[in-house]
Formats: sequence, C-alpha cells, structure tokens
Amino acid sequence: MILAAVPAGQGCIPLPSQTNTLTITRPDDWHLHLRDGEALAAVVKFSARQFGRAVVMPNLKPAVTTVESARRYRDRILGALPAGAGFEPLMTLYLTDDTEPAEVDRAKASGFVCGVKYYPAGATTHSDAGVTSLARCHSVLARMEELDVVLQLHGEATGAGVDPYDREAVFIENELARLVKRYPKLRIVLEHVTTAAGVEFVRAQDDRVAATITPQHLLLNRGAMFEGGLRPHLYCLPLLKRERDREALVAAATGGDTRFFLGTDSAPHPRDGKESACGCAGIFSAHAAIELYAQAFEQAGALARLEGFASHHGADFYGLPRNKGKVTLLHESWSVPKRYPFGSADLVPFFAGEKLSWKQAPADGGA
Ligand code: NCD
Ligand code: ZN
Repeated sequence: MILAAVPAGQGCIPLPSQTNTLTITRPDDWHLHLRDGEALAAVVKFSARQFGRAVVMPNLKPAVTTVESARRYRDRILGALPAGAGFEPLMTLYLTDDTEPAEVDRAKASGFVCGVKYYPAGATTHSDAGVTSLARCHSVLARMEELDVVLQLHGEATGAGVDPYDREAVFIENELARLVKRYPKLRIVLEHVTTAAGVEFVRAQDDRVAATITPQHLLLNRGAMFEGGLRPHLYCLPLLKRERDREALVAAATGGDTRFFLGTDSAPHPRDGKESACGCAGIFSAHAAIELYAQAFEQAGALARLEGFASHHGADFYGLPRNKGKVTLLHESWSVPKRYPFGSADLVPFFAGEKLSWKQAPADGGA
C-alpha cells in the first residue's frame, strides 16, 4: 500500500490531514450479486471499474446449480463487460438438497468455480431452492472437504420461531459449530458476518474459517433503517445489527486479521421492488464499494489496513494470486447520485444523495 505523506513503517496511524491519495493493490469482491439480462448489463461495469475479481452469487431464477450453468452465466457476464475490462468473474454453485458429489469434482476441474454456496431454504432473495437441512448434504460436503472446495455460507437459521435479529447467532450455535467439527478440513466462509457472536466464532477457529464483511454492516447499525421513518433501501439480509455488533465488525475488518475480507453483498433490486408494501432485501453498493470501505476504515483510523482487507486476505484464503494492478483513491468529497438506470427500471444506490469522502481516481477504470 502506498500512503501519500505517510512514512514507511507507520502504516497503522491515522492519515495526516494533508494526505489526499491512497493507492492500493486492485481489490476483489468476494461476495457480489450481478443478476442477469438487462440488470447485469446495468451494474457489472461498476464492479469491473474497481475490482479485479468477484465471487458472483448464484441466486438467479433458476439458480446456478451446475458447472454447466455457471459456465453459461460466466459467459453472459463476460459478454456484458465494458470493452477492455480486465475483470474476472469467479463462480460459485448453489447448493441444493439434490446436488451430487460429482458436481464438486466438475467444479474443481473447471478452473472458474471457486466454491459452493449454501442458502438455507427460505432465508433470503431466491433461496427457495436452497437446502432444507445440512444433514442432507453430507456426501457433497465430504467431497468438498476432500477436494478443498470452499463452502460459502449464508449463515442464518430460518426456523419460524427464530427472531430475525437472532438468526446468525442461532445458525452458529445450532449448525455451524457442528459443521466445523464434522468436517475438520472443510474451508468455510461465513458470508456477510453481521454480529459480534459471528466475529467471535470465526476468531475461535483456525484459519480454514473466514468471513466476508459488507460496507453497510461496517457503516450503519440497525437504527439507520428506522431513522426519521422506514428506509427500505437499508433493508438487507442479514439485517443491520446493534451498535456493539457494528463495532465488533469494524474491529475485525480493521484489525489486520487475515480471516476477514471484503465482500460487498451488493444486491441490486429495481426501485419499486424496494419501495413496496413488501420490499425486497438487498443494498446496491457496487457504485462506490471501495469508497464506502475507505470511509469506514478512515472513521476507524485504520486506512493503512484497507489494502490487506480489500486486496490481500481474500485472495490468500482462496489460494489465488493477488492482483497485480493498483487503484488510487482521492480524498475528495462527492455526492452519490440519487438513482442509476437499471434496465427498464431504476436503482437507488447505497448513500444515494449523500456525500462520501473518498473517490476512485478516474484513470483506474478498466485496468
Ligand atoms: C441478496 C439478494 O438480493 O440477492 N439480498 C440481500 O439482502 N443480501 C441475497 C442475500 O445475499 O442474502
Ligand atoms: Zn448475498
């Protein structure tokens, strides 16, 4: 990482006020929803401008459950990229009750599938094809462990009696604790960890268990969704949590622990799907992802740790080379647009109409 005006070796101190640029290895997004068709065409350029790679979530309709469908989806993503973009989509397969171990073999051999994603049935957007019980997936999980294919978890319990704010903690207690014991070598990412309990759990494991953290869970607590009225654009799953959870996430992200890394969970929905009597879960953050993380790290006085979290830890966990290129952020206030076009609809981005204090340098696009 190059921190303008910060002498080498003083990486952890807050940047002095004259610092106005920050150059880091090009980051990766280890959890991203790109959708398909006209929605994909509308959003993929935002991720490609900032990130070298992204793990593209498979919760399409129908879900991406096989290597063959992942290959076709990957081709559509590559076809939707702006000319010259050096962006690599990493695919993941949607685990179902019927996934066969042989699919794991195909995934391993494919060279472009980096994991298998577990959605508990009914947990979130397009999760109805998800797993009804992890016990049904034993042979697949055992094969993943054998072949070292990463399991990416939407770690929320779905039982009818579980309070929505307790879903992560209950999942950890009732399922994840057992899972890590049963498959002692299986590598696991607890996706979009949102609670102090989740952070503690990851810290207590060895380094085969990691977690991604979103910008919204670093920047906001659950009060934000109700500030001055109900704010549907801040509704995502897992939900924003308490302030003490947010603080635990900030400490995890900025603490230099290699088990925590960037995953935006950017999840675009058309505006009328959000501004509705029964709105969709998902926050679109790809338009300003690295800037949002920079803001959170700056607030924590830890900008010098941004590069590890955004550009190193995830690649190292997945056993992939770190990106060679760089991105530069300018310390420059800008206003996030209120809307972006989204095919025939429009899209309200995270921080719409608000100011951010870092901006990616324009010259970085497409490198
Ligand atoms: C995601 C989506 O819309 O696909 N929504 C969300 O709130 N994060 C699904 C998910 O990752 O849970
Ligand atoms: Zn997601």
